[in-house]
Formats: sequence, C-alpha cells, structure tokens
Amino acid sequence: FFAAVEMAPRDPILGLNEQFAADTRADKVNLGVGVYFDDAGKLPLLACVKAAETQLTEAAKPRGYLPIDGIAAYDKAVQRLVFGADSAVLADSRVATIQALGGTGGLKVGADFLKKLNPAAKVLISDPSWENHRALFTNAGFEVGTYSYYDAENRGVKFDAMLADLNAAAAGTIVVLHACCHNPTGYDITPAQWEQVIAAVKAKSLVAFLDMAYQGFGDGIAEDGAVIQQFLAAGVENFFVATSFSKSFSLYGERVGALSVVCASKDETARVLSQLKIAIRTNYSNPPTHGAQVVATVLDTPALRAQWEDELAGMRQRIKQMRTLLAEKLVAAGVKQDFGFIVRQRGMFSYSGLTKPQMERLRNEFGVYGVDSGRICVAALNTQNIDKVVAAIAAVL
Ligand code: LMR
Repeated sequence: FFAAVEMAPRDPILGLNEQFAADTRADKVNLGVGVYFDDAGKLPLLACVKAAETQLTEAAKPRGYLPIDGIAAYDKAVQRLVFGADSAVLADSRVATIQALGGTGGLKVGADFLKKLNPAAKVLISDPSWENHRALFTNAGFEVGTYSYYDAENRGVKFDAMLADLNAAAAGTIVVLHACCHNPTGYDITPAQWEQVIAAVKAKSLVAFLDMAYQGFGDGIAEDGAVIQQFLAAGVENFFVATSFSKSFSLYGERVGALSVVCASKDETARVLSQLKIAIRTNYSNPPTHGAQVVATVLDTPALRAQWEDELAGMRQRIKQMRTLLAEKLVAAGVKQDFGFIVRQRGMFSYSGLTKPQMERLRNEFGVYGVDSGRICVAALNTQNIDKVVAAIAAVL
C-alpha cells in the first residue's frame, strides 16, 4: 500500500533542528530556527510564566474539554493586546477571536475558513516569506503567488514593486502580510508605506491576513502592533490577525496562539465565529489548556504583565546588542562586504545575503546552522558563540 510513497523533503527550518541534534561537534551553533536563547545559550523560562504556573498549580483544577474557541478570558486578553483595550471594534463586538495552536494554528484555521468562503481566491505571500506560509496555504487548497518584497541590491524593501503587485491583484486576493519583524528578511515597511498598502487593500478589495508572530521583538509591544491601529483607523472592515506567543512568552512547546477576524458587525462576528469553530472542530476538536491559562494569567495580572513587558524588553535589547556586535566583529575580522544592514533589520532574523553554498559550508565545515536562504537567527547569538560564527562567516566569504 505504501510502496509508492515518496520520501518528503526535510522541513527547511525544523528539519535543521533534526540535523543539528545529530551533529556531534561540541561547538556547533544553531542559528536556524527562530528561537530566542539567553546569553548563556539557554532557552529562557520567563519569571512571569513561572509565577503564573505557580499560581495555577496552587489552585489546580481538573481538565475538562475547553470550548472549541478556547478559554474565553484568554481570547479577550488577546483581543485587548492586539486591538487595544479601548478599541471601538471590541466595544462593538466586531472581532471573532479563537485560541489557536500557535501562530501556525491561527493561520491554518483562517486558511480553512477562507477556502470554504471563497474557494477560487488566490493567496499572495511576500517574496521571500516564512517557508511555511506557502506550504500551509497550498495545503489548504490555494494557489499561492508572491508580491515583490526583498531588495537584495539595496538591502531593504522594493516598496514600489510591492505596491504595484498589490494594486494589480484581483479583488478577493488574500494577501499575507508580516505585521512586524519580517521573517525571513528582518526588513519592515514604514508606517507611511503601510498607509499605502492599506489604501491598496481597500481600493482593490483584498483580504489582508496579518501574521504577527514577533510582537515586541522590534521596537516594543505597542510600536510593533501599530499597524493594526492603522488598519482600524483606515476603516478596513474585514481583516485577519494571527498571533503567536511562542517567542514573546518563550512558550514554544505549549503552542499558544490565536486568530482574530475583524468583522463589519456584531451579527457578522457571530456568524464568522461559528464557521471558525467548524474549522477547529474538524482539525483538532478543541485546544489545550495550560499555555493559554498561563498567558491569560500574565496578561490579566498587572504585576505579571509589567514583569512580562520587562522580560520581553530584555530579550529585544539583547538581540539588538548582538546585531551591533555581529556587524562590528565582521568588520574587525576583515570582512570587506558591508554588513551594516544587520543593525537596521528588526526582530529575530537577519537575511545575511549569504548564498546556499555558503550556508552549506557554514553547516558542514563549521557546525554553524542557518537556513539555506541565508537567514540566520540573531537571537541565538551570544557572547560565547559569536566569535566562532564571525570566523566561520569570514571563512566562507
Ligand atoms: C521560524 O521561522 O524559524 C519560526 O517561526 C519557527 C518555525 O516554526 O518555523
């Protein structure tokens, strides 16, 4: 029965973890997957998470099934974080939010809902985008194309070309946008450029699907979420936001995320929510309890919330220090190529401009793992591994 089953290719990001785990070199460095490590190279357990878990353990409760759309207090806390506590769309009950299995789960539930609603729609992702965007929307049954984004020559965004591509898209096209900290390039567009993107979304009746997996890793929670306010202020009636707490709470393995769909009215919200629940029920029935309880407890407890914001700021600042250090050390190592762009990029990643053969050499000869596209995770650099990484990059250049 399985004789015709072909071996699938390794996942371009998570597959690297498997290869890294099997590598026996003691000084190997994993800059592949988007995971934040502290300066000692350890995955942090945030103090706010630990405190929330202690509270939850002390008042331990039995684990019945959650509602299909998740813990109500969690969904509400996500809404306040994403849209703002005083947001008119929340006061008017115009947002359907569901607890999802990470940001990926939010994207998938949204994709399944959209496929049912408008099966003929096309999806556009940025060129390049997170590798899983194309795979996920293709698997949901969509034809996936790209809009221009990365400008390799000038190290930035080809904004005019991006806008032209959006303006040329057919009405109803689903456009996947990175709300902040673009993955993989690290280059974001400016608020003024977002205004033009939003105008194109409105004028061409596009369906904006914002992926917000790195809120707080660019310039701050509010700053990174500002694009949502721009969509609301422009009066875009319908748009999607996938949220992830994997990175911002260092809760990767708990799969805590959400999908929020902005609707035109309270009645529309109820109907959309009912359809999202069908997508969930037919995929995995209902979500797990622990991670969402932790996040809701932190977001709803003022002292823990303040602690989370401090801890997130600490992660953000350390990444920025690593960016500066990496750029400086590459100069000091005699690398002629200008790597000054590293400090202009935002979030966990740097699109280094290294080629696939150079990335392969980094991995094979030096045990430095990055994605074949040239993406490296700056959030996994630290004061102990950076010299090794710099020497390896200098060697392959
Ligand atoms: C990444 O891009 O490395 C992260 O979003 C992790 C993942 O699931 O790919």
